[in-house]
Amino acid sequence: MPSALPDGEPMPEDGALPRHALTGAAGRPLGFYLHVPYCATRCGYCDFNTYTASELRGSGGAPASRDTYADTVVEEIRLARKVLGDDPRPVRTVFVGGGTPTLLPAADLGRMLAALRDEFGLAPGAEITTEANPDSVDPRYLAELRAAGYNRVSFGMQSARQHVLKILDRTHTPGRPEACVAEARAAGFEHVNLDLIYGTPGETDDDWRASLDAATGAGPDHISAYALIVEEGTRLARRIRRGEIPMTDDDVHADRYLIAEDRLTAAGFTWYEVSNWATSPAARCRHNELYWTGADWWGAGPGAHSHVGGVRWWNVKHPGGYAQALAEGRSPGAGREVLPDEDRRVERILLELRLAAGCPLSLLAPAGARAAARALADGLLEPVPYAAGRAVLTLRGRLLADAVVRDLVD
Ligand SMILES: C[S@@+](CC[C@H](N)C(=O)[O-])C[C@H]1O[C@@H](n2cnc3c(N)ncnc32)[C@H](O)[C@@H]1O
Ligand code: SF4
Repeated sequence: MPSALPDGEPMPEDGALPRHALTGAAGRPLGFYLHVPYCATRCGYCDFNTYTASELRGSGGAPASRDTYADTVVEEIRLARKVLGDDPRPVRTVFVGGGTPTLLPAADLGRMLAALRDEFGLAPGAEITTEANPDSVDPRYLAELRAAGYNRVSFGMQSARQHVLKILDRTHTPGRPEACVAEARAAGFEHVNLDLIYGTPGETDDDWRASLDAATGAGPDHISAYALIVEEGTRLARRIRRGEIPMTDDDVHADRYLIAEDRLTAAGFTWYEVSNWATSPAARCRHNELYWTGADWWGAGPGAHSHVGGVRWWNVKHPGGYAQALAEGRSPGAGREVLPDEDRRVERILLELRLAAGCPLSLLAPAGARAAARALADGLLEPVPYAAGRAVLTLRGRLLADAVVRDLVD
């Protein structure tokens, strides 16, 4: 959830969509993202739209009580039902993210899911994920979530090393995320993800290997590994600027990525997106696949973004303003844009090129096609899919994914 909202045209008060957005909707999957904007403490690297209790008190505006948050989201789900009208699609994926969703009682997460079930219905085998901080759950909580219908859980592990967790301001102890995987399995969760971060200042190659081994050894079926991004305006960025801690460089990130690919592959994981590995196709995150393939999703919650049929919109960022809009019967949408075909083409390249399935060469404009031929000659694209009309990154191409994508969208 980026911290700044884009400009755009105003959103109508009732949130109504242009008629064309729903044309052909029956053929597209529909997912829901539910944002929970609360954290017990703020990690120094994080610029997600999330608030600690003291940040909420200090930010003025309308109250934004955690106690009533689930009911507010239920209001937005009801609004979604009205806006999507007689769209008959059941929900294929639900992803509750944050912030820290598991700061809310499990019953609240259950109520939000029940509202989706009541208003839209859940497709058979729907994937229902929640993110969770390792120190915010216990076996009873996980059992309640499972009983409420959640079948996938994603824990923010980040690292197995105490000194790395400390730089990241993480509050859990090493070993706790691995225990969470076991507790989630015991509670009956079929799919479990661990998020890892590499390239934290002070982290060594051996620290990173230890984190990967601890993560794979815990038995999740999915691992996301992200290079640490030093976001402007975060405490981490300020500490680096003051020279208190060093910055890591791109070469270190590249080395760590190669270590990740090596260790994860050896442990039975296969990449399917540049930052994501799974033990089987069934273990991939279907909700993220829905984002990456331009399907429809409704994002509920402050600052959440939505996309339906080429119309993208975003909600007001502050939980207070968000709750107030819904209490007054207004859409919490702050703005929207109808994506021109050219933007949709570029976006498809940006997202699909990062997938193991790659993107069709037919999407590329002439300059992009010439860049693809050069990338093939430079060993950044796989020759066999290329011959069959697809641009698929090689391992070296994945290290340079951002640069390759930039060239191909020309
Ligand atoms: C919303 S957070 C996860 C949920 C939960 N609050 C937690 O932190 O465990 C999603 C994931 O994004 C990743 N992330 C957040 N900020 C990042 C940054 N600046 N650089 C790299 N990864 C980041 C972390 O791996 C984190 O687990
Ligand atoms: S717990 Fe997660 S969402 Fe909250 S501040 Fe830390 S990384 Fe960000």
